[in-house]
Amino acid sequence: MTMHRICALNDLVDGAAAKFEVGKHVVAVVRIGDDVYAIGNRCSHADVALADGDVDCDTKQLSCIRHGSAFSLETGVPSTLPATQPVPVFIAEVRGADVFISDQPMMNAASPDPRVKRAQP
Ligand code: FES
Repeated sequence: MTMHRICALNDLVDGAAAKFEVGKHVVAVVRIGDDVYAIGNRCSHADVALADGDVDCDTKQLSCIRHGSAFSLETGVPSTLPATQPVPVFIAEVRGADVFISDQPMMNAASPDPRVKRAQP
């Protein structure tokens, strides 16, 4: 797994999502204050870009613009129907003024490959 610089932290709008290509994945990147989160951009219900959805900064969720399923930015798990399957979660780090995203998802239900380990807190 390799971390890739995608942009400067100040390039991200606080409380909004933006789409980036990292390796072979398309990732929805969300900034909440000085924290950054990254989940797979494709909704697990249909082929819709999650980066077009709304961010709830209090619950740390990104809602799909099509039917409204809200996905956790920390686990990728949807809390509301119609989506029932999680989306992958990527490692997101702020290093100085720059944002880095992993080119492989962490292990969760959407990425069961045991060779990919969850990052330690
Ligand atoms: S397409 Fe995302 S919830 Fe239906």
